[in-house]
Amino acid sequence: MCGIVGYIGRQKAINVLIDGLERLEYRGYDSAGITVIENNQLFTRKKAGKVSDLKKILDGIELKSNIGIAHTRWATHGEPNDKNAHPHSDNSGNIVIVHNGIIENYKAIKKTLTDKGYFFRSDTDSEILAVFIGYIYNKVKDLEEAVRLALSEVDGTFGLVVLSSYEPDKMIAARRGSPMVCGVGENEYILASDTSAIIKHTRNVIYLSDNEMITLSYNGIQTKTIDNQITDNQIHHIDFEISQIEKGGFEHFMLKEIFEQAQTVQDAFRGRLQVNEGTVRLGGLRSVAEVLKNAKRIIFTACGTSWHSALVGEYIIENLCNISVEVEYASEFRYRNPVIYPDDVVIAISQSGETADTLAALREAKKKSATVLGVVNVVGSSIARDTDAGVYIHAGPEIGVASTKAFTSQLTVLILIAIYIGRMRGISLPDGLKLTQALSELPKKIEEVLKTADDIKAIAKEYCNARNFLYLGRGYNFPVALEGALKLKEISYIHAEGYPAAEMKHGPIALIDENMPVVFIATKDEIYDKVISNIEEVKARKGKVIAIATEGDEQIKQYANHVIYIPETIPMLTPILSVIPLQLLAYYIAVELGCNVDQPRNLAKSVTVE
Ligand code: F6R
Repeated sequence: MCGIVGYIGRQKAINVLIDGLERLEYRGYDSAGITVIENNQLFTRKKAGKVSDLKKILDGIELKSNIGIAHTRWATHGEPNDKNAHPHSDNSGNIVIVHNGIIENYKAIKKTLTDKGYFFRSDTDSEILAVFIGYIYNKVKDLEEAVRLALSEVDGTFGLVVLSSYEPDKMIAARRGSPMVCGVGENEYILASDTSAIIKHTRNVIYLSDNEMITLSYNGIQTKTIDNQITDNQIHHIDFEISQIEKGGFEHFMLKEIFEQAQTVQDAFRGRLQVNEGTVRLGGLRSVAEVLKNAKRIIFTACGTSWHSALVGEYIIENLCNISVEVEYASEFRYRNPVIYPDDVVIAISQSGETADTLAALREAKKKSATVLGVVNVVGSSIARDTDAGVYIHAGPEIGVASTKAFTSQLTVLILIAIYIGRMRGISLPDGLKLTQALSELPKKIEEVLKTADDIKAIAKEYCNARNFLYLGRGYNFPVALEGALKLKEISYIHAEGYPAAEMKHGPIALIDENMPVVFIATKDEIYDKVISNIEEVKARKGKVIAIATEGDEQIKQYANHVIYIPETIPMLTPILSVIPLQLLAYYIAVELGCNVDQPRNLAKSVTVE
């Protein structure tokens, strides 16, 4: 979703801002803009389209300024065009803002301002905030105070940076609900909504908290709350490398991230897996170990791919820990007055750690006194900071909009959590040993799966013109069917449905004819024979079957048109292997169709609005 960059320091601001915007492109956006202060005057350019379009209109313009702000916009209020792009200015044209989030009471503020004779040029809620800050500035003649007072009146969410020619040596930022990080370099500061825009310059960052603002000048920074209390912020160190946010020779980030999975799964269990003791060590859960040991119910809440991980987690935890588990879409959970008991454990799963619905759901659970945990990728993100305890998945930055490596790392961490709780609640040592051993062997097996890429590419060529796909799986592989279908629709725009295989005859079977490819996850487990029966039902109706099967399964060849083999592992770990061919299938089909794989239309990497 929208991205923000701000810079004050010794470098030419325009270079840092454009580089920062390019680093944020992966988040998904539809317009971009910048403002710098050139000779004490604001200089703004904005453009619908890509950062490259913005660069074209800046071409040949010499900008020496050392202070500026920039934005990529993902439209919420008002269509994506030049006028609605950020920065937005107040009526005097002397104050500009870039804003992520939604101003919920914008109509009331707009009416007050319109009644006083103020005007608006765009269709955005953000411009209303800019004009409002300008209105207050006219009274208080102090930029920081004007921003603070305006934000005290605002309902909704914001990540905000303000610049003004009235006070040209200053930049003010604030957050509520939308991330805002300040990179602290040598004689320079870089503000951004995402650390990817910062790490080229510094790894030392301050994470702003909700309702906190920061004033940056050439001489230093100061933070305070919107209630005017001075705050003291710790500097954190970011430990990922710049190479992790570059393509490293791959054609797309998504392909790179698919191929990273042997490593990222290993990173998820590194230092945690105690193979010789058949258990795991999870420092992040130590403070809640007793709560987990005695928990009567675990509720997972998440969105999209992370919700699919939660479904696998449900099956695994119920099986290993004998605790009742529920899985809730965060967007439903937050609004439906869920029954939550104080001894419930609510686990929010999120790659970005910024998904608005997931954040709101966990806050709702907290209000109702549950213990709230996070399974999160982005260190220092809002969800990670708002939970009582949690486990990072350590997948590194995921740039491709379609989630791949985060999914397999989430599954890895969920099984670690299940072993951790299960061993406290009675899993035997031999069972613990079997599980931890199997987990430790996964990276090698993932390497094996990745070797099937060329075969999958050939299948993709054959089926890329299909209009619909069906994905079917059972047990642990039912959520994998959902995930395979989601990957395909997200990046290739082909309609795809995922179902539990046995549900097919309750409706979807009506769709099957010779034009319908059906992807079966048919790995060897206790319900393998049942899945084979489902495959036969598809064959009998001339459907085309692509099967993901366990190595050594020769029988399946007589039913399937295509078979992709994955190595054998214990059934609850198969999703970590079986999803990879589906990620590759979606990828190669999308490439075949000429789609923008890393930035699919309408999608944003981090969904920070409802
Ligand atoms: C799918 C995808 C989305 C996200 C969802 C939740 O490929 O990326 O469905 O999984 O928006 O995002 P996080 O995990 O960041 O909360």
